[in-house]
Amino acid sequence: MSRENLTRWTLVVGLLGSGLVFGAPPAKPAPTKEMLEKAKTSFTRNCAACHGEKGDASGQMAAVLVPKPRNFLKDPFKKGNKPEEIFQTLATGIPGSTMVAFTQLPEEERWALAYYVNELQKPGSVLGGNKPKGGKGKK
Ligand code: HEC
Repeated sequence: MSRENLTRWTLVVGLLGSGLVFGAPPAKPAPTKEMLEKAKTSFTRNCAACHGEKGDASGQMAAVLVPKPRNFLKDPFKKGNKPEEIFQTLATGIPGSTMVAFTQLPEEERWALAYYVNELQKPGSVLGGNKPKGGKGKK
C-alpha cells in the first residue's frame, strides 16, 4: 500500500470511528414476530380507542374527534409512514390534535408500535388489517 493510500484509509477509519462515538443514530431494533405480538396488546390498550382495533379509525372516539384519527389502511401520513418516522411521531405527537406523544411508553414498545402500524398498512398484512382485494386471501 502506498503512503498516500495509507493516509486515506486512516482518515476513513477515523471518520467511521468518530461517527460511532458522536453521531450514533437511535438504535432501531429489527422487528420480530414476538415484538409485533406485544405491539398488538399495546395497540389495543393505547391506540385502538381512536384508531380502531384494525387501524381503520373505527374507534369509539373517532366519531367525535377533529381532526379525525388517521385511518392507517388508507389515509396518507403527514409525518411519513416508515417505522422510524412513526417512531418519531410517537415521540412528539401531532400538535393541534388529540394525537399526543407517547414517551411514557418505553422506547422498545414505541418501536414495536411503529412496526405494527407500518405492518397494518401493507396490503395482505399478516395482521389482517388490509385484506387483499378480490382474491381468496393468503393463509
Ligand atoms: C385520543 C385519540 C388518539 C389516540 C389514543 C392515539 N391517536 Fe394517533 N392520531 C390521532 C389523531 C386525531 C391523529 C391525526 C392527527 C392529525 O391529522 O393532525 C392521529 C395520527 C396518528 C398517526 C399518523 C401520523 C401522520 O404522520 O399523519 C400515527 C402513526 C398515529 N396516530 C399512531 C398512534 C399510535 C401508535 C397510538 C397508540 C400508541 C395512537 N396513535 C394513539 C388520535 C389518537
